[in-house]
Amino acid sequence: MDLNDIRKRAENELRSVQNQQDLRIILQKYLGKNGEITKILHSLKDLKGEEKKQMGQTANDLKNDLMKLFYQQEHKLADKELEEIENKTDIDITIPAKQAKLGHLHPITQIRSKVIEIFANLGFEIAEGPEAENEWYNFDALHIPKDHPARDMWDTFWIKDLKDSKGRLLLRTHTSPVQARFMEKNLPPIKIIAPGRIFRYEATDPSHEINFYQLEGLMIDENITLADLKGVIEKFFQALLGGDTEIRLRPSFFPFTEPSVEIDIKCAICKGKGCSVCSQRGWIEMGGAGMVHPEVLKAVKLNPKQWQGFAFGMGLDRLTMMKYKINDIRLLYQGDIRFLEQF
Ligand code: PHE
Repeated sequence: MDLNDIRKRAENELRSVQNQQDLRIILQKYLGKNGEITKILHSLKDLKGEEKKQMGQTANDLKNDLMKLFYQQEHKLADKELEEIENKTDIDITIPAKQAKLGHLHPITQIRSKVIEIFANLGFEIAEGPEAENEWYNFDALHIPKDHPARDMWDTFWIKDLKDSKGRLLLRTHTSPVQARFMEKNLPPIKIIAPGRIFRYEATDPSHEINFYQLEGLMIDENITLADLKGVIEKFFQALLGGDTEIRLRPSFFPFTEPSVEIDIKCAICKGKGCSVCSQRGWIEMGGAGMVHPEVLKAVKLNPKQWQGFAFGMGLDRLTMMKYKINDIRLLYQGDIRFLEQF
């Protein structure tokens, strides 16, 4: 077999090849398992001496040269194919890719996580209850009897014609029903928070929405006092808004706590000087609290002579507004990207 002849043919074929598939076929034909050159290399073992050496040398040189040419052509064809795709599809693959826009958590969700973390460090666990609640847990168990004027404190969305074994259904007006639900199922000592969505049938304005988020807290044990409440609340606000945040408790009324207080913090926006957000008062109301009423403990079958404790309910929206200095609660629910992008 004339190696020179093979070289000529192979080089010719490789130089004129038009696509990658043909290129591979040529490679097989000469250097594949049964390729012409492969066969020659195999037959070397039958030769002897000088002839074997020379033939071996020439065949190996040919193999190396053809492989080099093969890789060159492979490169060329790949470039050519890419160019064809570009021309065909009109896509400029050199243009930088569009940046994928990453979203982030809603400011209320961010605050909720932070709040949960702070209370977890103080030893509180998380409890939950349904958003569609019955009137027993939302009102009766919390010492707010039917036809009592105190029910008017919460303007309620009733769910038409629906009830369960404990009364008519409604969209819960506060997270306090979680207190009763948890105490029914768990014995003291109890230390829980219950963050959740609540609903009020109200006209909206910069500080009112028909749905918002509350953070309920409940601690029940044998020797809990209002001082424990104040300590926990103060630690919480200082962890969330800074070590110099001042709080005060103001006498108030809730049917399910006695005594009851409002929790105020010194306005974070004007530092107590008075501004539009705090209505020039310098202090802002963040929620209600108090010592759990003995009637509530009785309703969930706990003996008020043995157990007592505090409960509080704060607005997560208002916490978010204080933390980020937002002056209209409605902004939190409009989904306006120009607003949300700022947090
Ligand atoms: N549930 C009350 C409200 O929504 C707040 C509160 C909770 C007050 C717990 C006292 C104790 O207004």
